[in-house]
Amino acid sequence: MAIVTLLDGTGPLHGDAARAFLADHGVLHESWDVSRADTELTTKPTLTPEEQEELVTSFASGLARMAKDYGYVSHDVIVLNPEATPNLAELLINFQREHHHLEDEVRLIVAGEGLFTLTRQGQTFSVLVTPGDLISVPARTRHFFTLTESRNVKAIRLFQTQGGWNAIYDPEPADG
Ligand SMILES: [Fe+2]
Repeated sequence: MAIVTLLDGTGPLHGDAARAFLADHGVLHESWDVSRADTELTTKPTLTPEEQEELVTSFASGLARMAKDYGYVSHDVIVLNPEATPNLAELLINFQREHHHLEDEVRLIVAGEGLFTLTRQGQTFSVLVTPGDLISVPARTRHFFTLTESRNVKAIRLFQTQGGWNAIYDPEPADG
């Protein structure tokens, strides 16, 4: 379960407290059973396109429900670790710049962990996501993402358009 820590020092919030905080701030969070995926696929540092598709297939029923309920029409797999991602440091510089998107940013963490920092309803807070966490950063919410010291995450990304989304770095009035 995600762990929430507020910039003002409140927290960390675990379990039901974290769940309630995210719900109160309009951030969709679900806990998925990632043990349904082949352990080899979740642990190996790099995945071929075929292996990525196999990983996605493990969650076909859940992804179909998300598509039906929220209109997520496409998906892919993102793997970030020093072995799979030679330009990891460069990528992280961009991920760590605050930005927003015009659609939701949805991630199901299947291995590793990451840290989303969001500003909603006048509060800035970090959400540590670990395997089984599905989080949706709402459209137009200013946020950034970084890895933890383990520098490893594997996640399924869900998109509301076929082309995915672009990051908008310039601040503009955002929801929340
Ligand atoms: Fe983003």
